[in-house]
Amino acid sequence: MTRKLALVTGASAGIGEAFARRLAAEGCDLVLSARRVDRLEALARDLRSTLGVDALVAPADLSRADGSQALLGQVRAAGRAVDILINNAGYGLPGAFLNTAWADQQALLQLMAVSPCELAHGLAPAMAERGYGRIVNVASLAGLVPGVAGHTLYAAIKSLLIKFSESLHLELRRSGVHVTALCPGFTYSEFHDVNGMRARITAGTPRWAWMRAEPVALAGWRAVEANRPICVPGLVNQALAAASRLVPETLAMQIMASQGHRYREV
Ligand SMILES: NC(=O)c1ccc[n+]([C@@H]2O[C@H](COP(=O)([O-])OP(=O)(O)OC[C@H]3O[C@@H](n4cnc5c(N)ncnc54)[C@H](OP(=O)(O)O)[C@@H]3O)[C@@H](O)[C@H]2O)c1
Repeated sequence: MTRKLALVTGASAGIGEAFARRLAAEGCDLVLSARRVDRLEALARDLRSTLGVDALVAPADLSRADGSQALLGQVRAAGRAVDILINNAGYGLPGAFLNTAWADQQALLQLMAVSPCELAHGLAPAMAERGYGRIVNVASLAGLVPGVAGHTLYAAIKSLLIKFSESLHLELRRSGVHVTALCPGFTYSEFHDVNGMRARITAGTPRWAWMRAEPVALAGWRAVEANRPICVPGLVNQALAAASRLVPETLAMQIMASQGHRYREV
């Protein structure tokens, strides 16, 4: 039997790498995408030798307007259909909206909003035609709770991904294509090193609030297999998501405003 093919964006680190390892362990072949080719090649070698799967390295900068089409072109050239799409690549952009250059905000939107939609748009039709597909959009708990000042577009982009996932989930519900928004909270990865917030975040959040990337990816995979539109991994994150629905919005906003300085830079 031919193995399923999974495309993982942001596979060079953190949650994306954990997804790649999980899907390889499930017997899938991989297309590994990100910008750091050395990391992707090392991961591909490891997956081939330890798990016997095929792993193709497909470098792409998804913050560029032509990034997604370049990635889809590499997948087409490989001559295989993608069965599983993990839209994961992302980073945070610290600072106030007005003090952040528009080019940087545009790149963020392109990477974390436009590219995931474009990749889903490019790959889902063939999935639906074949009657099988899995799409995980890695969003965030930040997309489910009230916004805070600073990193201003981040939560908004993640909310977009959550709504997009819910709607696409319904649109494709009779097609065999499952769509899930995965909404992690604080997760050990390179995310807070890349955006320079490690020291502040570590000081501002207790250890019990954190999860490792592996259980986050596993929860996302189980949720999309079960065809659940939204997955919040971990009891702490689930409690926070539930609390933000139960508490009146104005009070939730006040709480977030008073706590925001712990993990947001304005
Ligand atoms: N860590 C958390 O606390 C947390 C919480 C909630 C949600 N999330 C979400 O989880 C996802 C994964 O983040 P992570 O925590 O695993 O962070 P990470 O360890 O920093 O990994 C981010 C990945 O995205 C890739 N990436 C960044 N910019 C890219 C670009 N322009 N083009 C292509 N790929 C790019 C990086 O690869 P290259 O640098 O090699 O390109 C890397 O593989 C993100 O969408 C993030 O918003 C994270």
